[in-house]
Amino acid sequence: MTPTLLREILAEARFSPSVHNVQPTRWRLQPDGEVLVLDAPDRRLAVGDPTGRDALASHGAAVEGFAIAASVRGFTVRLSPAEDAVTKLMLSPGASPDPLASFLQTRRTYRGPFREGEGAAELATLAATCGDLLLVDDADGIAAVARLNDVASLRTFRRRPFRLELLSWMRLSPRHPDWGRDGLNAEAMSLSPAEAIGAGVALRPGVFEVLDRLGLAGPITGEADVVRSAAALAVFAAAADEPPFETGRRWHRAWLEIARAGLSAAPMTVLGDDPEAAAEVARIAGVPDGARVVTVFRLGVPAGPLPEPARLPVEELIAP
Ligand SMILES: Cc1cc2nc3c(=O)[nH]c(=O)nc-3n(C[C@H](O)[C@H](O)[C@H](O)COP(=O)(O)O)c2cc1C
Repeated sequence: MTPTLLREILAEARFSPSVHNVQPTRWRLQPDGEVLVLDAPDRRLAVGDPTGRDALASHGAAVEGFAIAASVRGFTVRLSPAEDAVTKLMLSPGASPDPLASFLQTRRTYRGPFREGEGAAELATLAATCGDLLLVDDADGIAAVARLNDVASLRTFRRRPFRLELLSWMRLSPRHPDWGRDGLNAEAMSLSPAEAIGAGVALRPGVFEVLDRLGLAGPITGEADVVRSAAALAVFAAAADEPPFETGRRWHRAWLEIARAGLSAAPMTVLGDDPEAAAEVARIAGVPDGARVVTVFRLGVPAGPLPEPARLPVEELIAP
């Protein structure tokens, strides 16, 4: 491993998904050529991710992105435990390019509506290629999960500290200095400029509570219409004892399989985090005993454009 190769690999791996797009993974090249994978402590979500499970899943997704980008250059990546680090990576020659490599930079979270009635052929491809997803494609099942998502989301948004933390990662105007760098910008959230201004006001402490008393908070946080426009939902589950880092690696691959099948998706992780919703989703999708719902993707053929990716430059991902 050389500094140049590390930069080349990170230029592609940085497009890996991360919770709220906080991009918590840092990489340090050691004198012996191994790469330490580090957690950026200033990027923790103390409220939304108190146990650090989503941060670990994000690290797993980033390392999977790294391994895929390395494979294109002929390198296999081996992982080993390291003190005070997420993991340590060692590269050795002899890899053939990962078939998911061409989707690493084009995969995107798409939060807008889908083209109704389209995507059946793509879904059949996905069902045949990705064993890690349980598909729900009947209208009743999709509608039931759409309702669960709205109820669980509203429960979460009612927590003021959660809203404040989320707001701190929202970039509601292109004038925000971090609009193209990290977090969730209005374009990524599929909000028009006017909707973005409205969201910024509605989520404020005090305002949200008043809207909630007037029965208006549900319509603001709800996304059932968009969920119901999906060609299908794909439930991503994990063995209850699977380490979150490994879950993150599989999660990224499953999402790249969705992109390879020609579909776009958005995960709805509240459906895994909210115990009541997770139990109901598990029943609807037939998640086996001993497994837990991690997230549910809504997927389909996008009716609008995919957002531009917002990412930190490579130099900021390299730890001294
Ligand atoms: C652990 C994890 C949880 C996520 N949960 C959600 C979610 O609940 N809702 C959502 O819209 N996106 C969710 N995402 C997607 C991220 O917000 C997204 O990957 C990030 O903003 C980067 O954008 P991109 O996927 O378009 O590259 C999650 C991603 C990860 C890795």
